[in-house]
Amino acid sequence: MNHFLRLALGVGLFSCLAAAPAAAQQKPKKTSPLGPQHAKVMQQIDKARRVYLMPQVPADVRAKDLLQRMTLDEKIGQMTQLCASSITLDGSKKLDLNTDKIREYITQHHVGSFLSGTGTAQRWVTFVNAMQKVAVTETRLGIPIIFGMDNVHGSDYVDEGTMLPHNLNLACSFNPAIAAEGGRITAIESADLGHHWNFAPVLDVGRSVYWPRLYETFGEDPLVCGTMGSAFTRGFQECKEVAPYKQAACAKHFIGYSQPMSGYDRSPSEIPDQALHEFFVPPFRMAFDAGIKTLMVNSGELNGEPVHGSKKLLTGLLRDKMKFDGVVLTDIKDIMKMVEMHAAAHNEKEATLRAIDAGIDMSMACSDVNFIKIMKELVAEGKITEERINESVLRILKLKIELGLFENPYPRADRLDRVGSKENYESALAAARESMVLLKNEGSLLPLAKNTKLLVVGFAANNRRNINGAWTLEWLGAPESRQPANMKTLFQALQDEFGQANVQLADSAAETPGSPALAKFKEQAARADVIVVTAGETPYSEFKGNMNDLSLDPHHANLIREAQATGKPVILLLFEGRPRVITGLEPGCRAILFAGHPGVGGAVALAEMLSGKTVPSGKLPFTYPSHVGHTVTYYHKASDKYTALYPFGHGLSYSLFTYSNLSLSDSVINSKGSITATVTVTNNGKQAAKEAVLWFLKDEVGFITRPAKILRHFEKAEIGPGQKRSYTFTIKPEHLSYPDEKGTPQLEPGHYTLTVGDQKIRFRLK
Ligand code: BGC
Repeated sequence: MNHFLRLALGVGLFSCLAAAPAAAQQKPKKTSPLGPQHAKVMQQIDKARRVYLMPQVPADVRAKDLLQRMTLDEKIGQMTQLCASSITLDGSKKLDLNTDKIREYITQHHVGSFLSGTGTAQRWVTFVNAMQKVAVTETRLGIPIIFGMDNVHGSDYVDEGTMLPHNLNLACSFNPAIAAEGGRITAIESADLGHHWNFAPVLDVGRSVYWPRLYETFGEDPLVCGTMGSAFTRGFQECKEVAPYKQAACAKHFIGYSQPMSGYDRSPSEIPDQALHEFFVPPFRMAFDAGIKTLMVNSGELNGEPVHGSKKLLTGLLRDKMKFDGVVLTDIKDIMKMVEMHAAAHNEKEATLRAIDAGIDMSMACSDVNFIKIMKELVAEGKITEERINESVLRILKLKIELGLFENPYPRADRLDRVGSKENYESALAAARESMVLLKNEGSLLPLAKNTKLLVVGFAANNRRNINGAWTLEWLGAPESRQPANMKTLFQALQDEFGQANVQLADSAAETPGSPALAKFKEQAARADVIVVTAGETPYSEFKGNMNDLSLDPHHANLIREAQATGKPVILLLFEGRPRVITGLEPGCRAILFAGHPGVGGAVALAEMLSGKTVPSGKLPFTYPSHVGHTVTYYHKASDKYTALYPFGHGLSYSLFTYSNLSLSDSVINSKGSITATVTVTNNGKQAAKEAVLWFLKDEVGFITRPAKILRHFEKAEIGPGQKRSYTFTIKPEHLSYPDEKGTPQLEPGHYTLTVGDQKIRFRLK
C-alpha cells in the first residue's frame, strides 16, 4: 500500500464516519501543488474514506454517510425519474442512447433513475451499461442509477423475453407457486440486463369489470390478489439465481384505483374508508409482509383527493398506519396530472408542494426536469425543508445500497442465454396450462378425439398478438411481426396436436357480414366436425381500453352466430382482458373456455386442453357477468343480487370432483381460539387432476352489512384417479373480524357459515 494511503487509513474508521458535510465538500482537484502523484493518492484516500462504498457496513449507515456528502441539487436529482424516450436518439423507446442527453441529465441535473425501453437483451445490456458508466465514473459521488421497468408478464420489453400469462390468468390457477415461479423467471430474464426495479405486481383489487386494467390484476378477491401478489414478490425479490444482482418489486397502484365509478381508467373513485380497509388494503399489507421494497401511487382520485396529493392516504394510512418504509414513486407524470387532469392545483409548483407534503419520494417526471427546478425553488422559498428531502433521499439511497448497486452497478452479457431459454418457455407453458378456465362443456364435448376435424376461426386463430395482449414489447402490444418467434399460434398448435390434415384455418375476415371470407368459412365448416371460434378483445392498455358497453364486439358476435348456424358444435375461446358479455350467444356454444391472455405457451396449452392431454384446472378469479348493466362482485351485500353468468370460483375439469364430510373440530370458537375445518375431496375421474379448494365464510349478521360470503383460504393439489384427499382450514378470529372505518378489527359474536364446494356448516363465535 502506498505511503500516503496507509497514513490516511491509519486515522481509522471513526474519521470515515465523520466525513465532511456536503457544503464543505470540494470537487476532487485534478491537479495538486505537490504533483500528480499526490493528487492521485489524495483521491484514493478520499475514496477509501467513503463509508457508503463499504459493503460490510449496514445499509442505513452507508445511506446516511452518502446523504451528508450530497448537495441539495444532488439530492433532488435522486428524487427524479425520467423515461427512456427522453434519452434515446429518436425520442422513442428504442434503445439507441443519446449520450449527450444522458450526460446532461446525470452530470448536470443529477437525475438518479430512468425507466422503460424496448429491444434485444444485448441492446439492453449496452444501453444500461452506457448510462451507468456516466453515473458511476463521471459524477462526484458515483451514485449508480436505478433503472425501472414494467416487466408485468415476464421480461416483456425484451425481444427474446418469455411472455408469461398476464396476472388475471395467473390468478385463474389459484396456485401461488405459479405466481412465485413467474417472479423467479422475470428476475432471471431481467436482472442481468440492468433492470433493477420492476413496476409489478399490480395489487389493485379488480372490482370493476369495465376498468381496462382488469387483466393486470389478480381478479376481484382481496385474498387472491394478496396471495398471488406476495408470492410473485417473493419469487422475484428473493431469486438467488440472479446473484450478484438483487431487484426490487413495486406494489402498485396505491390505493383505490380499480373501482372507478364510471369504469374509465383514472376516473374518480368514491370508496368509504371502511370498504377501503376491508377490500383494498389487504393485498398491499400482504405484499408489505412479503418484504416488497417500493410502491407506486394510484393516478386517479379517491374521495375527492388526487391520491398523489393525499397526505391522509400516503402518510396517514401508508406510512403511519401500515408502517411502509420503502420508496414511494409517483405514477407517470402524475404530479402534473394534479393540474391538468384533476384540477386540484393551479400550477406544477403547487402540485409539487402538495405531492411532497403528502409523502412522495420520487417523481416519475418522465419527460422533463421541471420537477428539479421547482423543488429547488420550493426549498429556497422555505416551503419544503431540506429535512423533508433528506427523508426521501435516504430511502432511495438505502434502496440502491440494498440492491447492491454500488458493488454491482453494471449489467452483464455472459448469461444472456437464460433469457427466453427452453426451461423458461416450459415454465410459461406450465403456467398457461393452469391459467385458463373451462366455463362450459355441454355433453362432455371436450376433450376431442385425436382424429376430430377442426375448423379454427376468428381474430386470435392465427395471431400471436391477440394471445399475448398488451405490455408485450410495446405498451399496446407489438405488431405481429415482432411477437415472440418461439410462440405458436393456435392454428399451428392445433395442427401439432391433431395432425395437419385435421385442422383448417378460416380467414379472420369471416367476421364481417356478407364478406367472401364468410362464404368460404361456411364451405370449410361443411368439412369440419367442430368449429373453434376465437373471440374477445384486441390488446389495449390503460385509458386506451376505456369502453362504454361490455357486450362482445359485434363482429365477433356475428362470427359466433354464423358458426352456430352451420349446425356444427361450436367451441368458443375467449381471449380478453375483461369479461365481455356473451349471455345471448352462450346457449349455442357447446364448450366455452376463458383464455384471457395466457402468454407464450397459451396456444399449445389450449390445444392440449382440447385434446385432453391437459386437464383444465383453472377457476374464475372474477365474476363473469350476465348483463352489461349489472356487474357485481361475488362478495356483494345481502341487499344486492348476484347475476353472474359464471360465478367467481367457477371452473370445470374433465374429472369429476365430489366434496364430502365437511366437519369442524368444534361448533363454537372463542375470540382468542381457533377451530379446524376438514373436507374430503374425491377425484371420480379416470385421470389425475388438480383441484383448487376454496373456503368461504359468511358472517350471518353484521352491524356493518357483511358480504354474501368471502374467500378466507384456498389450496390447490393434484388428486389421483379414484383417490381422496383431505383439505383443512384453521379458522381464527382474524378470519371472522372486519375493519371499521379506521381499520380497527371488529369481532361480533354470532353465527357464521362456512362453505366449501357444495358443503356448508355453521358455527358460533362466543
Ligand atoms: C402505468 C403504470 C406504469 C407506468 C410506467 C403508467 O402509465 O399506470 O402502471 O408502471 O406507466 O410505465
